[in-house]
Amino acid sequence: MNPSPIGIFDSGLGGLSVWKEVKIACPSESLIYYADSGNCPYGSRPPEEIIHLSSEITQFLLRKHCKLIVVACNTATAAAIAHLRANFSVPFVGIEPALKPAAQLTKTGHIGVLATRGTFAGAHYQRTKEKFASKVEVHIQIGEGLVELVENNQANTPEAETLVRRYIGPMLDAGVDQIVLGCTHYPFLLPVMERVAGDRANIINPAPAVARQVVSQLEQLGLAAPEENQPEYSFFSSGDSARIFEMIG
Ligand code: DGL
Repeated sequence: MNPSPIGIFDSGLGGLSVWKEVKIACPSESLIYYADSGNCPYGSRPPEEIIHLSSEITQFLLRKHCKLIVVACNTATAAAIAHLRANFSVPFVGIEPALKPAAQLTKTGHIGVLATRGTFAGAHYQRTKEKFASKVEVHIQIGEGLVELVENNQANTPEAETLVRRYIGPMLDAGVDQIVLGCTHYPFLLPVMERVAGDRANIINPAPAVARQVVSQLEQLGLAAPEENQPEYSFFSSGDSARIFEMIG
């Protein structure tokens, strides 16, 4: 039993979609969230920069005595998780596009993946695609500009709808019936995405699966907090922290 906090970080506010699920799945665990909004977006940065930023945040979370760190960012997982695991002894849980459930659920044999340039460029994505989605047609789309809309409180605006329509419209026309959200910012665009997709496609948010992975790691490693632990939630940001509180409601 270990009452120390779990650290969760993202390039910005997107990882709060994971934070919400971890909070539900682990009601006794204290959580420390770090939003690197001052350096957001990560999606178009070179891997070396993302490794540097992720290492700095990991050191910050370790100074706060985190017992496990969730890399709640597909782009940072793709670029940096191997480096983090090799250089820090704390356990890490990462996130990657949920190709496996999409490939299992599709009836049309066409799945769509929306993610950042960095996520698609990583070796992780290629490996997952070969392993789980080799028998289906995968339609990929870089979600240029979507992260910025979420960071700037514009997720439910006509601009957001125009961009979402531009990105997922062609996938839908190609017969995609599953759309994987490969960036933790995108679940905040779900109302717009569901409006655009209607009943043509199911949208897959991998955050609940990440929370289940956190529970299983805590159990396996004997790191879970005692049930009677009173959890504390703290938030840090390299940008405007007020937006965090608006997003968690
Ligand atoms: N939330 C990050 C992800 O899951 C956004 C990346 C970015 O900052 O571009 O990929």
